[in-house]
Amino acid sequence: QAADDYQQMEHAAKFFAHQLRHHSNSDKVVSYLKGRGLSGEVVKAFQIGYAPDGWDDLLKALGKDQGSRQQLVDLKLCNRNDSGRYYDFFRDRVMFPIRDRRGRVVGFGGRILEGDGPKYLNSPETRIFHKGRELYGFYEAKQAHRQLEQVVIVEGYMDVVALAQHGIDFAVASLGTATTTEQLQMLFRTTQKVVCCYDGDRAGRDAAWRALENALPLLTDGLELSFLFLPDGEDPDTLVRKEGPEAFKQRLSEAQSFTHYFFAHLTESLDLSKDSGRAKLLKEAKPLIEKLASDYYRDALLEQLARLLRREVSQIADQVQRPQAVRN
Ligand code: GTP
Ligand code: MN
Ligand code: MN
Ligand code: MN
Ligand code: MN
Repeated sequence: QAADDYQQMEHAAKFFAHQLRHHSNSDKVVSYLKGRGLSGEVVKAFQIGYAPDGWDDLLKALGKDQGSRQQLVDLKLCNRNDSGRYYDFFRDRVMFPIRDRRGRVVGFGGRILEGDGPKYLNSPETRIFHKGRELYGFYEAKQAHRQLEQVVIVEGYMDVVALAQHGIDFAVASLGTATTTEQLQMLFRTTQKVVCCYDGDRAGRDAAWRALENALPLLTDGLELSFLFLPDGEDPDTLVRKEGPEAFKQRLSEAQSFTHYFFAHLTESLDLSKDSGRAKLLKEAKPLIEKLASDYYRDALLEQLARLLRREVSQIADQVQRPQAVRN
């Protein structure tokens, strides 16, 4: 069953890729992708496709019998309405196949070309697709590199693809906003260095802090986590197209270390010249530092915390517990 599911998803990806070239709307979709700066080569590398605007194009192609129609429903490529009619889930959208780390297609993201409706539709969870465990572009990045020196986490499909278009072929997207502990764990098994680079807006900044919190239990000595904050209104796609890859790489190399961001964020709205401000910092920093798996980072954060609180490290360290056991 499972092997067959992956095969059916692969068939769907091939179907969408084929439609991009041969459907009567092909011109419209291809010029959309060109307008977004993508070459045929990158479109091919990510197997970007097109879901036709009809109601049952995929269904007709892949749902030959009752069993395969039910499978398409299970894989959330098709829906079945109350009167028993089947119809395609993705219609008139640019399709991004999501591969698991072994390269198997497990889901899709579909972008609207124009008009009404949600900008992106993502495959709902299925028996082979669990959003919090997959990273868009991870397989493709691993294919491009024998050894991944660093990985950049971004928000969107288009960010991953646009960066690859400019030679920055080591970006992945968490599906939805929050990057989970599971996703970070998967990355840190492959690379020592992760840079979070979310959109330059409120949602992006919130996503950064959540990623930091989720990463704390994983950060053992030797792993590096940093944060690149983009100018307001920019995302990696718009910025790399505006500034070019060298400027973007420069920004990556100057990303804030997580220890820097940790205190920058926690002290943002605190007045550390007041006892109340310092007490609040201690209260908020303590439980977070206690999550850290790394002695090195723990000491580094305690040192900075002591400095900000105008205390001795020894006074602070006594109050902050070590984790009970290594958690990863
Ligand atoms: P482009 O407009 O194509 O450049 O997309 P973007 O990735 O810049 O979109 P945005 O920054 O608005 O959103 C970031 C990510 O959130 C997207 O890549 C999607 O994964 C997701 N997202 C955005 N809009 C929607 C939506 O309407 N529905 C759902 N389910 N997800 C969305
Ligand atoms: Mn490369
Ligand atoms: Mn955004
Ligand atoms: Mn964006
Ligand atoms: Mn964008």
